[in-house]
Amino acid sequence: MRKKVIAGNWKMNMTPSKAVVLAKEIVLKNQNKDNCDIVICVPAIDIPAVYETVKGTNVKLGAQNVHFAPSGAFTGELSVDMLKESGVEYVIIGHSERRQYFGETDETVNKRVTAALNGGLKVILCVGELLEEREAGKTLDVVDTQTRKALEGVPASALENLIIAYEPVWAIGTGKVATTEQADEVCGIIRGIIADLYSKAEADKFIIQYGGSMNAKNAEELLKMPNIDGGLIGGASLKSDDFTVIIDSAK
Ligand code: PGA
Repeated sequence: MRKKVIAGNWKMNMTPSKAVVLAKEIVLKNQNKDNCDIVICVPAIDIPAVYETVKGTNVKLGAQNVHFAPSGAFTGELSVDMLKESGVEYVIIGHSERRQYFGETDETVNKRVTAALNGGLKVILCVGELLEEREAGKTLDVVDTQTRKALEGVPASALENLIIAYEPVWAIGTGKVATTEQADEVCGIIRGIIADLYSKAEADKFIIQYGGSMNAKNAEELLKMPNIDGGLIGGASLKSDDFTVIIDSAK
């Protein structure tokens, strides 16, 4: 039995004062729940304030990116140690917005994944195809390549700290959710890649989330599917009531 993981991706939303209010609501509405693991991935500037709010609770703190170097001349970036010392447990890597707008490549994603896992962070690695890639029948190739390249050099012993989020780019922030069958099919294919790279036993334990317009209405149906072990939720994670419904849908 895989325990589901529900993660909010706040993206570039919430100033520190607003972040604390939202985090407090999420903590209060989800106290003592253990049907799933709950993570909120907040903007870097919000991390210290949100850490004070969630520490000691069942809500875990995540960041939205991390650099692969331990320190140095990388203006605007944050290191694994900076995040860890600030109470961060999880980090999203390779989100399609980073790939599309900030020049993230399979190679830099692999370096960030490696550095984060080596440094003791839990990683939520995002993979997923563009609309034109789906329409051209390339979904499986894209997901296969992104997954294999991101995992190059990652040992089986690190898999317990890794989650893959399948996020079809055309479903992110568009209100256009993948059908449960489309989502489950690709999550199943990712599980097959893990089995191929590592073993069936590793694949059976491995957490694979769906992300892309998951909300309070469609979460239950998606989370029932055999290969979907949780969600990475953008827009709907900014409303504590909606996020709580999604958390309650994860059984
Ligand atoms: P969305 O975003 O739920 O707003 O579609 C998901 C994501 O980008 O992680």
